[in-house]
Amino acid sequence: EGDVYKYYSEGEWKVSSSGKTVSIVNPTTRKTQFKVQACNQEEVNKIVESAKAAQKSWAKTPLWKRAELLHKAAAVLKEHKKPIAECLVKEIAKPAKDAVTEAVRSGDLVSYCAEEGVRILGEGKFLVSDSFPGNERTKYCLTSKIPLGVVLAIPPFNYPVNLAVSKIAPALIAGNSLCSSPHPGKDMTLENASLGLPIQGAVAALHMVHCFHLAGFPKGLISCVTGKGSEIGDFLTMHPGVNCISFTGGDTGVAISKKAGMIPLQMELGGKDACIILEDADLDLAASNIVKGGFSYSGQRCTAVKVVLVMESVADELVKKVNETLAKLTVGPPEDDCDITPVVTESSANFIEGLVMDAKQKGATFCQEYKRQGNLIWPLLLDNVRPDMRIAWEEPFGPVLPVIRINSVEEGIRHCNASNFGLQGCVFTRDINKAILISDAMETGTVQINSAPARGPDHFPFQGLKDSGIGSQGVTNSINMMTKIKTTVINLP
Ligand code: G3P
Repeated sequence: EGDVYKYYSEGEWKVSSSGKTVSIVNPTTRKTQFKVQACNQEEVNKIVESAKAAQKSWAKTPLWKRAELLHKAAAVLKEHKKPIAECLVKEIAKPAKDAVTEAVRSGDLVSYCAEEGVRILGEGKFLVSDSFPGNERTKYCLTSKIPLGVVLAIPPFNYPVNLAVSKIAPALIAGNSLCSSPHPGKDMTLENASLGLPIQGAVAALHMVHCFHLAGFPKGLISCVTGKGSEIGDFLTMHPGVNCISFTGGDTGVAISKKAGMIPLQMELGGKDACIILEDADLDLAASNIVKGGFSYSGQRCTAVKVVLVMESVADELVKKVNETLAKLTVGPPEDDCDITPVVTESSANFIEGLVMDAKQKGATFCQEYKRQGNLIWPLLLDNVRPDMRIAWEEPFGPVLPVIRINSVEEGIRHCNASNFGLQGCVFTRDINKAILISDAMETGTVQINSAPARGPDHFPFQGLKDSGIGSQGVTNSINMMTKIKTTVINLP
């Protein structure tokens, strides 16, 4: 049961010498869908060694040629959108249309990266010494951007393709090589914070890597390793041959950042994005954004709306409108392109249920009946949530959304800022001055005015404060982050 997939190393598809595989369970059927190789440390060493060697000549490959290959990979990715989307449906229960969108968005991201890379890496700076006190004009300084070396890219289960290419493409255009590795869902963090590799999404990621293979990148430049976290998780992230880690996921990222060596880290971790609704808000607009922001892909997005903070005077009307929109969502299998599909694992569903039961015990108002079948959880709005309930602070990563009624804007901002997360937030008001002041006061990487939080468009800067991350992503920022400044100083006699 379950097709067995090989891993990708030195430009070839290989079977692990461990003789073992890891099963990927379909969230809908809860049966094994695919199997991937359980690679061992020796195989990881080989991959890192070949990545190191391939990077040296890749860095010398003209920038326009690197861009040309990336454009080719983008086109192949788009051609292969169907098989990639099919994997996303089977592995992570992503609704069929969203799965195709992920593949297309990924192709667009790769192309944009190639174009942006040509622009920003094609220019450096020229400085003269006599602008600093005490210096004559005797030193000319030339700056350029050089690659870091081997980048380890670890995408999450919810965007195994898109959030892989958002790391791979900037790394490649900047002249780095790549070791990519799918990582566990937020609920699968192992005790020792190793990566519980692989989980759902690994096969979609292997398909994506195949597109880069077909585009004709040099051997060893890109690889994709799969395996058990206990065997290769820490080994990968603490590998001395790795020069940069770009990771998206949950708490595992905090553990990785504590264990990693002295290398640049790019981390996008959890979020508890707040949606603040003022009295003068367009409530129809707010309600549709709350449903879209809170329930797309069944709430399994770091940028999902995860708590609504609404002014008491408009709360009844808002809740009514949200409930009316929620009632229109379809619930069922991803193959039927339903809005709400099974969450990624049984343990994830159990975790969500734990939060719901805690809220029930503490007196939250259930706007719908709580319903679950296997990993499928029906959309649920919890009204009158109070700060003593776990769901006021924890991210369910599921189709369950708490509403907290507030009596002042300050109370909303206080709740938002008391969170240990700081990814995004949003505010709904017709008063732009108030919106700007609230945006300034919210301790999050981004604030959306009159729209739900979202990462895209993918060239926008994307960053989290506090436990939500390290560094900033988005095409331009990722390219810059995966380079170092090199200077050459010409000393005149
Ligand atoms: O959960 C991953 C995060 O990056 C969300 O992306 O595009 O759904 O806002 P997006």
